[in-house]
Amino acid sequence: MAAIAVFSLLLLLSSAPAVLGFTRSDFPPEFVFGAATSAYQYEGAVAEDGRSPSVWDTFTQAGKMSDKSTGDVAADGYHKYKDDIKLMVDTNLEAYRFSISWSRLIPSMKAFHNISVAVLRKFT
Ligand SMILES: *[C@@H]1O[C@H](CO)[C@@H](O)[C@H](O)[C@H]1NC(C)=O
Repeated sequence: MAAIAVFSLLLLLSSAPAVLGFTRSDFPPEFVFGAATSAYQYEGAVAEDGRSPSVWDTFTQAGKMSDKSTGDVAADGYHKYKDDIKLMVDTNLEAYRFSISWSRLIPSMKAFHNISVAVLRKFT
């Protein structure tokens, strides 16, 4: 099986700013200030660059949410991620955890099969 379970990234940037009456030195050196996003709420761009529908797309696009919302656009992070990373740098965040939609990484069962075969070949 593909070893790709979770895509997350810890970006160590720089020290945290003095805000809300506390400073970086009020926290232990190993304390990490960061932010996190989740693919469905963040990415948007549901049909761009080969992404296929996820079960959430199918569910929400059928109008199943009480407010009829979908993740079709979401926070539009797929298009705005560079601005968001700039904000993270400007605010001295030290870590960023994010996920990438499975259906963007592996848009079809055929693609999944190919990856599985490649991984099996590598490790058997
Ligand atoms: C799967 O692998 C075959 C054989 O290498 C290739 O021709 C095909 O384009 C691949 N399909 C996908 C969706 O990756």
